[in-house]
Amino acid sequence: MPQVTEIAPDVYRICVFYPEINLGFSHFLVNDEEPLLFHAGLRRMFNEVHEGVSQVLDPAKLRWISFSHFESDECGALNEWLSVAPQAQPACGMIGALVSVNDFSRREARILAPQEVLSTGKYRFRYYPTPQLPHGWDAGVLFEETQRTLFCSDLFHHDGQVEPLTHSSVLDRVRATLTAYQAGPLANYVPYTRNTQRILEGLATLQPKTLAIMHGSSFAGDGRQACLDLATVMKEVLDKESYQFPVAGT
Ligand SMILES: [Fe+2]
Ligand SMILES: [Fe+2]
Repeated sequence: MPQVTEIAPDVYRICVFYPEINLGFSHFLVNDEEPLLFHAGLRRMFNEVHEGVSQVLDPAKLRWISFSHFESDECGALNEWLSVAPQAQPACGMIGALVSVNDFSRREARILAPQEVLSTGKYRFRYYPTPQLPHGWDAGVLFEETQRTLFCSDLFHHDGQVEPLTHSSVLDRVRATLTAYQAGPLANYVPYTRNTQRILEGLATLQPKTLAIMHGSSFAGDGRQACLDLATVMKEVLDKESYQFPVAGT
């Protein structure tokens, strides 16, 4: 049974928690004239997320399926959504469309140029490419300008069965999760590049009021400071050599 919570006006967080990996997966439904779902979710999660969407609106009315980057938890069930929603279309950046989505998807994507606005009626989603952040050449985010909601995908990832929305900083949790990942087989989940700081500083200039976080609690508050704090945490945890080439016989 998914947990459905309105985290900002008309923005519904549909969360499925997997206790075996202590991780939640949140999908964000925006109820507007042209309803938008951010994260299609895993294929095996489709029935649960579909049930969550049904609590808010008729899933057949979905018009846009969007996501940050091409990975199964972000868009594995894309074709399932396109099957149940005849007007639905993927919306993503050019790299995502050309490299993966237009081959995988049963319907072609609307390609969003950098800073292009996708209007769903009342709401305006501006697209920002964020290459390799959180990961993937094709990565990007949507920023809903009227309510200042940043759909930030895996950024701010933290583990645990946590509250749907918090007004307290999540950065301690983010630091703990990134540090734990970095110490084990999940290391290098998020690459640290020469562009990481400048992308996060760019996102900070948007001054988000709500961060729609895929894994963990969503956050309401000073999103500018949160993006700057994330830059600090990522530098502290990730900006170091971590890779050991496996040498035969050792
Ligand atoms: Fe991801
Ligand atoms: Fe993810």
